[in-house]
Amino acid sequence: MSQVGVQLCRVWVTMLLLLLSAPVEGGELCLMRSVLISLQRVQAASFTKQEILDLPLGARPALYCSNKCTLRDWCQLWCAYPSNTPTHCLISNITVMPTYQETNMADVLTCHTTRPKDLATYANITAGKQYMSDPLRVKENLLDGFYNYNTDHCFLTELSNSDRWFTLDFGQPKCFQHVILYAQVNYLAIIQFNNVQVRVSNVTAVTPPEDFAAYDLFGEFPGAASPGQVVEMKSPKPVCARFVTGHMLYDHRFQVCHIEVF
Ligand SMILES: *[C@@H]1O[C@H](CO)[C@@H](O)[C@H](O)[C@H]1NC(C)=O
Ligand SMILES: *[C@@H]1O[C@H](CO)[C@@H](O)[C@H](O)[C@H]1NC(C)=O
Ligand SMILES: *[C@@H]1O[C@H](CO)[C@@H](O)[C@H](O)[C@H]1NC(C)=O
Repeated sequence: MSQVGVQLCRVWVTMLLLLLSAPVEGGELCLMRSVLISLQRVQAASFTKQEILDLPLGARPALYCSNKCTLRDWCQLWCAYPSNTPTHCLISNITVMPTYQETNMADVLTCHTTRPKDLATYANITAGKQYMSDPLRVKENLLDGFYNYNTDHCFLTELSNSDRWFTLDFGQPKCFQHVILYAQVNYLAIIQFNNVQVRVSNVTAVTPPEDFAAYDLFGEFPGAASPGQVVEMKSPKPVCARFVTGHMLYDHRFQVCHIEVF
């Protein structure tokens, strides 16, 4: 769902709650998507904002938890647990895409995310050289559909202009209108996410990033990003392309923590 969609959804639920004293189906009117994820993985995400609520006796978990999530502007995921007879809601600002594939099935739960179905989690990625001193910050972190605000889940490039880029490849032209990029949550965002251009094309760039000049500009962020800034680029109408590139023009290492294309 777009940010605008989320806002409208919030207004709608708030209105329903004000107008009616009877139980409201508000949460079900808002489009949230289910995703399987380990409860421990969500709870262990120490960099996220989260809240645990007791489920009142007789409350319907889906209704109660989704309304609580919808009414908090930071909530991006809710889970009712334990799964057989829920007694609690966990609400969190963790970013989990509906396409996320859980590997730890031991304590897996069906949770619900506000994030949309997107193309990044099905893409292949190429990029400039990764910063050697941070071996965990691999480019594949941008495709896993999971981001808990720990910078070890980001992608960090080397310093040179020839390395400050990434390219998503969807295999064939796909249509989308939004590209969302998350900057890291610490103060280095001002130099590691600054003056970023997003471009699209159907042809492979033989020499990136120089060849990106021939690509169509989708959006640009003049920078500098504030810590944790979520940069949303929206095209007035859908564009179709096989490749989406990000390139940082500012002279530093480029760090991106999460991408959505939809
Ligand atoms: C989630 O919460 C953390 C911790 O408060 C914060 O650093 C991060 O920017 C938040 N992210 C979003 C998208 O709300
Ligand atoms: C990603 O790369 C693999 C291996 O080259 C290929 O089989 C697959 O079709 C590619 N996927 C996309 C979306 O291009
Ligand atoms: C890519 O190809 C598709 C269809 O083949 C076309 O609709 C689209 O406009 C092309 N995109 C670009 C950026 O050239």
